[in-house]
Amino acid sequence: MSKTSSKTQKRKLENQKNPLEQILVKGLDKKMDTHGVSFKKDLAFNDTILSVRHLKMFFPLGEGKKLKAVHDISFDVKRGECFGLVGESGCGKTTTGRSIIRLYNITSGSIYFKGFRINAGSRWNEKEIKWSKIKGNNQIKELRQNLKNELSEMDSSPTPESQKEIQDVVKRYQDEIHSVETRISDIRTEQHKKIKQIKYDNRHVSRSLMSRMQMIFQDPIDSLDPRMTVEDIIQEGLKIQGFKNKTQNHEKAVKVLEEVGLISDYCSRYPHEFSGGQRQRIGIARALVMNPEFLICDEPISALDVSIRAQIINLLNRLKEERGLTIMFIAHDLSVVKYFCDRIAVMYFGEMVELATSDELFKHPLHPYTRALLSAIPKPDPLSEKKRKRIIYNPAKEHDYSVEKPSFREIIPGHFVLASDSEMIKYQELIKEEDEANAKKEEENRRLGIE
Ligand SMILES: Nc1ncnc2c1ncn2[C@@H]1O[C@H](COP(=O)(O)OP(=O)(O)O)[C@@H](O)[C@H]1O
Ligand SMILES: [Mg+2]
Repeated sequence: MSKTSSKTQKRKLENQKNPLEQILVKGLDKKMDTHGVSFKKDLAFNDTILSVRHLKMFFPLGEGKKLKAVHDISFDVKRGECFGLVGESGCGKTTTGRSIIRLYNITSGSIYFKGFRINAGSRWNEKEIKWSKIKGNNQIKELRQNLKNELSEMDSSPTPESQKEIQDVVKRYQDEIHSVETRISDIRTEQHKKIKQIKYDNRHVSRSLMSRMQMIFQDPIDSLDPRMTVEDIIQEGLKIQGFKNKTQNHEKAVKVLEEVGLISDYCSRYPHEFSGGQRQRIGIARALVMNPEFLICDEPISALDVSIRAQIINLLNRLKEERGLTIMFIAHDLSVVKYFCDRIAVMYFGEMVELATSDELFKHPLHPYTRALLSAIPKPDPLSEKKRKRIIYNPAKEHDYSVEKPSFREIIPGHFVLASDSEMIKYQELIKEEDEANAKKEEENRRLGIE
């Protein structure tokens, strides 16, 4: 974009009505008033580009039933990294991605992008009001019963002393009941305030902020409208954002097409004229034209021929370097993300079971599901491949969470795992054992002169 056109564009954006967009254009550091939208300053100015907090996404199934596609997951994506999200089909990866780009109104939790809350759900807050009321009312009932019992055992003679004692007991219980009532009312007031804020935030999400994150979809056939030309597909987002200059839009479309390895002649063609790999490139061009900072790639190579996969991965890698992109890469097996991602999160049935840097996860896979995923990767060396045993994860056999509930916790710096107290001890021993075995192997290799 030329200097003057970028200036005009900036002025145009500044004149838009949404005050949040004005802040984003003028710069956050100059003006910190976020016009009532929840904003986490610490997230905006450290290296976290995206923060997902207690995300829950439930789909109603009718008759009061619901499908818990994502159940309470939290993670941060750091600026400039490639974050892998891995798990078998149906575990909630796409739902997580679609929640982040606001294709869903989430059930519960918050999602922050560049410090701003861009999606939030109020189910937890509503439950908090409900449970505090039920719990409080039960406490009050119990207190009233206790008062009754205590009074029945007291001396009820009309002497001033015993009357005074009775009054004291009644007063003590009344005070306790009053404090429970106050607590219920305080929780209700606090949660109502939070729910109001959630609704406000969801209504005031900045469109220009959202355009800085883009998603590349799994199926390059379904995700491109067959009735639109390649140029129209690429320009669609620009037009929605208010970029109406035809020449500039055409120039931008040509530029991104070339950036993804396609030629400008393709502008007037239709998606069905292209191969799977080319269609995925068009999908990437459509995302790039919005000049994103954060790209969610939802299994971008799963539907492609094996021979094309490496090309798309190389393209994404190059774009990441050249444009300084942050990428969230969704995949259903670990082999793809191993070399491409800096950190990897493993999901199982809507929950996050492990999160660590790529090296650390492969060095110390702790959760039995991660181990099962790892055992599914074929080994390049025929000898080890022959010895490879597939591990099947059976949660009922692996964990007994009826007594100890698990939580997602940091076992060594940067390495998180879903575990109970006793499992934490087991996993710590596992790390020690694996470190010792690795040290032994290295020592042996050194002795034999193998690098
Ligand atoms: N729009 C929807 N309505 C109802 N259920 C859905 C919807 N989208 C996804 N699901 C269900 O949510 C679960 C997670 O799906 P998804 O996020 O697509 O998994 P993944 O991408 O890991 O394969 C699945 O059981 C799926 O059937
Ligand atoms: Mg999916």
